[in-house]
Amino acid sequence: MNDNRPIGVFDSGVGGLMFAKEIKRLLPTESLIYFGDTQNLPYGEKSKEEITQFSVSITHFLKENNCKAILVACNSATANSLKEIREAAGKDIPVIDVISPVAEKVSFELREKIGIIATKATVNSSAYKKAIRRRNKHIHVVEMATPLLVPVIEEGFTNSIISKAVLETYLLNKKLEGIDSIILGCTHYTHLEKEINQLFEGKVDIVNSPLIVVNQVIYQLAKEGKLASKDANPQYTFFISVNTDNIIKVAKKFFGKDIQLIEKSLDY
Ligand code: DGL
Repeated sequence: MNDNRPIGVFDSGVGGLMFAKEIKRLLPTESLIYFGDTQNLPYGEKSKEEITQFSVSITHFLKENNCKAILVACNSATANSLKEIREAAGKDIPVIDVISPVAEKVSFELREKIGIIATKATVNSSAYKKAIRRRNKHIHVVEMATPLLVPVIEEGFTNSIISKAVLETYLLNKKLEGIDSIILGCTHYTHLEKEINQLFEGKVDIVNSPLIVVNQVIYQLAKEGKLASKDANPQYTFFISVNTDNIIKVAKKFFGKDIQLIEKSLDY
C-alpha cells in the first residue's frame, strides 16, 4: 500500500529545515509541507500554554492541507505540547516527535555522560533527561539552556565571530566538562554542528538527531503502509508565518537554493 499525500513538518522557524532536508535525502519521493512559525519565534521563551496554542493551530493547518503524517521538528513544541498535538492530529495521522527516538537510541548505546543543549522551554520541561533516564538510569545527563543560539542562527550569524563567542561561552562551561556525547536539543542548533565539533576538537560525539528522527518517520510510515510510491513526483511547499529580511537567505542555505517561501499567517 502507498500514500502519496505530503508529510507535514513544522518548527518555530528555519530549524526544522534540516529535518525536512533529511527526509528529502532518505525519502526522495515523499512530498512535504513545511510550516515555520517565524511570527511567534522563539518558542523557547514562551509559556507551555502559548507553545501549545501555536502548535495546535499549525497541526490543524497541516491536517487541512491533507498531510498523512506530521513531524514536530521542534523540541520546544515536543517537550511542552506533544499530547495536545496528537489530539489535534487525530488517530489517523501519526505524529513523530524529535525527542523520544533520540532518547531511545542513545539509551541503548555506550554513553556515560551526555550533555544536552536546548531552549529554556525544553530544559525547564526536563523532557530529555526524563526520557533517557527512564530507559537507562546509569547515564549521567546534564541539560543546559543556550537561548542566544537561536537568534544567532535565524539572523544568519553562523560561522562568524559571533557564533564562535556565544558557543565558547556556553559550551566551555564547567557543567559540560567530561561529556562524551552531546545532543543538540533544539532543531536550530543542527546548523551549528560543524562549529560545535571544532570547539570540542572532535572529541565529543554529536548525536545525529535528524538521521535518527527521519529513520523513525520511515518506520512509522512503513508500518502504516503510508510510504509514497517509488514513482511519485514529490512537491515541496514551505510556509512561514511572517517574512523577515534574511529568512530566504538562511532558508536557501539550510534546505537548498530552489526553496521558495510562502507567507501565511494563521488564526492562532
Ligand atoms: N527550533 C526550536 C526547538 O527545537 C526552538 C527555537 C525557538 O526557540 O523557537 O526547540
